[in-house]
Amino acid sequence: MFTRVCKEDTIFEGGIRVVIAGSHIVILAWPENGAIKAFQGVCPHTNQPLAEADFDGTVLTCPVHAWTWDMNTGEAIHPKESALAEYPVKIEDGVVYVDTESVSPLFAAR
Ligand code: FES
Repeated sequence: MFTRVCKEDTIFEGGIRVVIAGSHIVILAWPENGAIKAFQGVCPHTNQPLAEADFDGTVLTCPVHAWTWDMNTGEAIHPKESALAEYPVKIEDGVVYVDTESVSPLFAAR
């Protein structure tokens, strides 16, 4: 089930925004030359919210221990250990919706 999370015009290409969808913290990312994506908004390392993460337009960096992810895919860059879970996104009439129902956040083994 899709949950309304924000208006489309509150996120910009090259930017990120943290929103709540149901009981999930979600980070919306709009990579440069890409599309709006939604990933888990907590770090797989320690469950730290990623609200203060740095985003250079492609790479998201956790502010705590600097793990990094490609926000086009959620794949881990460094370390390679743990990707970010990706949620389905749809945009209708200028509103962003995220479906968290069948996706759970991923966590690192260590
Ligand atoms: S808490 Fe995010 S890298 Fe350690």
